[in-house]
Amino acid sequence: MTSGADGLILGIETSCDDTAAAIVSDGRLLSSFVSSQPLHDQYGGVVPELASRDHQKNVVAVVREALRQASVALSDVDAIAVTYGPGLAGSLLVGLSFAKGLSASLGVPLIGVNHIEGHIYSVFIEEPSPRFPFLCMIVSGGHTMLVHVGENGEHDILGRTRDDAAGEAFDKVAKMLGLPYPGGPEIDRRTSEGDPDFHRFPRARLDGYDFSFSGIKTSMLYFLNDIPEADRGRFLADHMSDLCASFQSAVVDMIMDPLSRAVHDMRIQEIALTGGVSANSGLREAASAFCKEKGRHLYVPKPEYCMDNAAMIATAAYYKLASGITSPLTLTADPAATLA
Ligand code: KG4
Ligand code: ZN
Repeated sequence: MTSGADGLILGIETSCDDTAAAIVSDGRLLSSFVSSQPLHDQYGGVVPELASRDHQKNVVAVVREALRQASVALSDVDAIAVTYGPGLAGSLLVGLSFAKGLSASLGVPLIGVNHIEGHIYSVFIEEPSPRFPFLCMIVSGGHTMLVHVGENGEHDILGRTRDDAAGEAFDKVAKMLGLPYPGGPEIDRRTSEGDPDFHRFPRARLDGYDFSFSGIKTSMLYFLNDIPEADRGRFLADHMSDLCASFQSAVVDMIMDPLSRAVHDMRIQEIALTGGVSANSGLREAASAFCKEKGRHLYVPKPEYCMDNAAMIATAAYYKLASGITSPLTLTADPAATLA
């Protein structure tokens, strides 16, 4: 894999509910700014129509802030990188239309970036970064995917979730427990006080390297429904941390099982963990203990680069530009884009 292209890249990411912009100069991150949308919290999940409207309201200010923090002017920018999919159609359209407008008016190339590829490249935002080839476990609110990244950056999807994404399971179970959205960090925060052996939730194990998280969600629902309604409030007050720790321990096992088998089968040395759920303390601990024991190298971005951000989009674009890859201004948003 060659290193990237020189110049200043402005990255824009609006695929879900975070409006983000970042500046990368010669592959080095100068600034990364994310504006989240707390307005969804009251609905317990992202409301697509509200998300796109909020992106529209915020995108100009977010890009200005990224430029200001990097101490560069818009006229200094040499290329515009933007997420074209997968994601929410209305949200993607805001970022993409804005990026196309900038590209056309500044007369600089446009580089469309797949959001999942962005998560893969989040391990290149800061040093140390993996050597190619490496295995990348992407665990986020929308995706759970195990990808082999080859010598030339080519992707081979080894496994994926057959139902819910890992982050989705965290969010849905948190909602059942009466915890606020997004549920992942809420559950994670409570686990240090809880007993992971309080209840053993079943671990789904599929053939190959696929994942499944719908079963554990149903198990939690049945577990809660088995508690008489009159006692449920008291039970949750007494055992919230225990339930969080038991659930998290099961999810971590279900991510680590296919990942560790793939590492073993493919004899791969370099492992990356990316996406929002890679901020999870239990998963980080389990992955790092596994890599230490097996003598493998683990790369996990800083929590802020695990979540959706534009630094990963601008970084992925840096490598694309080096390979001469740019996008036409006819590029359209693709809500169901797959990893090429
Ligand atoms: O990567 P991301 O910001 O957005 C997507 O591309 O989906 O991931 C968001 C997801 C949410 O489901 C959130 O609950 C989860 O990542 N998450 C966590 C933690 N921090 C964020 N899940 C478990 N533990 C965490 N500490
Ligand atoms: Zn994401």
